[in-house]
Amino acid sequence: MTKTAKPVVHIDDERFKVTEWRFAPGAATGWHRHMHDYVIVPLSDGTLTLDMPGGQQAQAQLKQGVPYSRRAGVEHDVTNASITAPLSFLEVEVVEDTLAQRRRAVLERLMAMFNARDLDGLMGCMATECAFHSAAGPEPAGKVHRGQAAVRAAYAAIFEAFPVAAWTEGAHVIAGDTGLSTWRFIGTARNGTAVDVRGCDVFAFDGDLIALKDSYRKAQG
Ligand code: NI
Repeated sequence: MTKTAKPVVHIDDERFKVTEWRFAPGAATGWHRHMHDYVIVPLSDGTLTLDMPGGQQAQAQLKQGVPYSRRAGVEHDVTNASITAPLSFLEVEVVEDTLAQRRRAVLERLMAMFNARDLDGLMGCMATECAFHSAAGPEPAGKVHRGQAAVRAAYAAIFEAFPVAAWTEGAHVIAGDTGLSTWRFIGTARNGTAVDVRGCDVFAFDGDLIALKDSYRKAQG
């Protein structure tokens, strides 16, 4: 029976996962698919046998301290080709993209909660310390609403002003701590005025949640 390589996790945080893989002679990791980009740093010289989908097999020479990088999506079973010597390497995975995925999901949820007119759902997307800068207002930033209560009241005022409202054509991008959503707002104001306008929000994040929603929209007329 094939021996199994032993993983020892040294770092597991929002940005990196660092795992030391210790292979006894002939030991294997078992089949796995890499979900993140990664760097391998050999801790010893050695030879790996790489079994790949479709029955392909390759060998990789490891040189102590000489790293190599691979991209997410690699799928293989990795075996210590030596039947006499152990080997080990560090696997450094970049897991920051999972944070970006969570943030992107929050932007999608925020838009869904606007369309559902769900104030609790909206505030569930906002950080404890949060702000909303409206598109229009007396200040250079528009109108500034700071703190959970003020932001909640400002969102409620949007629903109050627009009995009919749809946020459509949403597209969301995350770049580091910044998010960008573009959209098309189609609504009818309480006084009967129809509005159909494109706009965007620039977001700042605190962890997974929104610390700032800074709104911009095209001026009509
Ligand atoms: Ni692997």
